[in-house]
Amino acid sequence: MSETHTANPEMAELWNGPGARSWITAQALLDEAFRGFETLLADMAAEAGARSVLDVGCGTGATTRAIAGRIAPEGTALGFDLSAPMIEHAQKLADQEDSPARFLAGDAQTHDFPAASFDLIVSRFGVMFFSDPVGAFANLRRAAKPGAALAMISWRAISENPFMTVAERAAAPLLPDLPKRGGGPGQFAFADQGHVHSILDEAGWTGVSSEPVDMMCTFPASALDTYLSLMGPVGHLLAKSDDALRERVMSAIREGFSEYISGPDIQFTAACWLTRATA
Ligand SMILES: C[S@@+](CC[C@H](N)C(=O)[O-])C[C@H]1O[C@@H](n2cnc3c(N)ncnc32)[C@H](O)[C@@H]1O
Repeated sequence: MSETHTANPEMAELWNGPGARSWITAQALLDEAFRGFETLLADMAAEAGARSVLDVGCGTGATTRAIAGRIAPEGTALGFDLSAPMIEHAQKLADQEDSPARFLAGDAQTHDFPAASFDLIVSRFGVMFFSDPVGAFANLRRAAKPGAALAMISWRAISENPFMTVAERAAAPLLPDLPKRGGGPGQFAFADQGHVHSILDEAGWTGVSSEPVDMMCTFPASALDTYLSLMGPVGHLLAKSDDALRERVMSAIREGFSEYISGPDIQFTAACWLTRATA
């Protein structure tokens, strides 16, 4: 099921268009790289004895499926995302794996979730894109049972995550139209936890806390070109570039990643926050 209107039209366009194409194509390598976060959230759900879990901005659903696998049959997990193609892909993978996870497309900022229906709300990198974060987290709080827990993973500052901007730095001389990273909704919007705590306080969550999590992430070096040609602002621009420019950019940025090659793998540290709160 999907909704046709959204309070986040720009993000809906991104995540139903180029963002979805990139994340679906790179799904296996992204899930491999970010598996540590999937395990962290699934462990939390299992240890808490969660019975009804909502995974916000679930994308292609690896975290939802991992949680569902840990808490079924007593517990259920619903993956929710703005991107209809990513939800379709998530459901397809769940069907293939015979996973009990369920998926639904819509805007978490405004979706009319049944009130007081989840005892745990989680997210792996899916909550930094709201145009009205206070409204979104108030909406999620209404969906949470009283006393329910929120546990979400978001990126710390760009400066602490140099891996994420290697491609931009290396490609900048060749791609003058490369958009600059700015404030506002996006990958690093929750880097300032003071800001995040004030959003959650205002949205009615209590007991807000955050702890840094440094996760070693790994994917095969043979997948580096796939990663580079799909992800981030460079990947999005390359999708529209001709072959000659594409090859010049790719060889410039491959060079920039040499320090992350470790034997057959690419390895980098994801510098993130685990933010928790109670409804
Ligand atoms: C960086 S991806 C992370 C996907 C997934 N959680 C993972 O770790 O593989 C961010 C996800 O948030 C979703 N998203 C962005 N804004 C949203 C909104 N307002 N409501 C629901 N999902 C949203 C996007 O569609 C996208 O799938």
